[in-house]
Amino acid sequence: MNVGAGAGSYEPDHLEVTAVEPSATMRAQRPAGAAPAVDAVAEDLPFGDRAFDAALASFTIHQWRDLRGGLREVRRVARGPVVILTCDPAALERSWLTDYAPQMIATEASRYPRIADVRSGLGGTVTVEQLPIPLACVDGFSEAYYGRPEALLDPGARRANSAWSFVSENAVEAFERTLRADLASGAWDGRYGHLRTQPTFDGSLRLIVGRP
Ligand SMILES: C[S@@+](CC[C@H](N)C(=O)[O-])C[C@H]1O[C@@H](n2cnc3c(N)ncnc32)[C@H](O)[C@@H]1O
Repeated sequence: MNVGAGAGSYEPDHLEVTAVEPSATMRAQRPAGAAPAVDAVAEDLPFGDRAFDAALASFTIHQWRDLRGGLREVRRVARGPVVILTCDPAALERSWLTDYAPQMIATEASRYPRIADVRSGLGGTVTVEQLPIPLACVDGFSEAYYGRPEALLDPGARRANSAWSFVSENAVEAFERTLRADLASGAWDGRYGHLRTQPTFDGSLRLIVGRP
């Protein structure tokens, strides 16, 4: 089961998958041939106990209304591992964006649940692994641009991360102005230029695997 499946990014296509996605807009974006998507929420899954070999929840738990209830349900319907891709709010400040877009980082940090709460919600044996972010990461979350600051001057790139939509227009303008000026003056490169060639960044990305 892939819960909070969205359009199906990261959904394995070599396995038999049931997707769960409450948003009709997202379900409509699923490509032809993608696994069938059930209209349901994590907190109330319409499946029997231990119905699936495993469950995946990628970049979704921060949107659930009831994290604990959702994790209990996901654990109930999966016989095997529950795999969660999320961000550790405590690690978001590692990014240079903390200096340039503090409001955005604060918004992000307030949206993501604490890793300890995910651990306790899953119960059983839980491992938490830090996932290194590659320099040319094709997913558009903010830390993906850790070594490509110019990209975040493009409003289109920022739109890929909904956290920006919670930031005031003034703060976005200040971000653009300051970053543009620091890139032109070399101030950004003076502090963070080493990131342009650093192959990976240890940021907030976490792979959490819960086993019964
Ligand atoms: C940022 S998208 C991630 C989609 C996909 N998993 C991915 O990694 O690309 C988050 C998804 O979680 C869904 N979602 C929000 N609340 C949910 C809930 N309570 N139960 C299940 N899915 C939920 C949203 O509709 C959205 O499609």
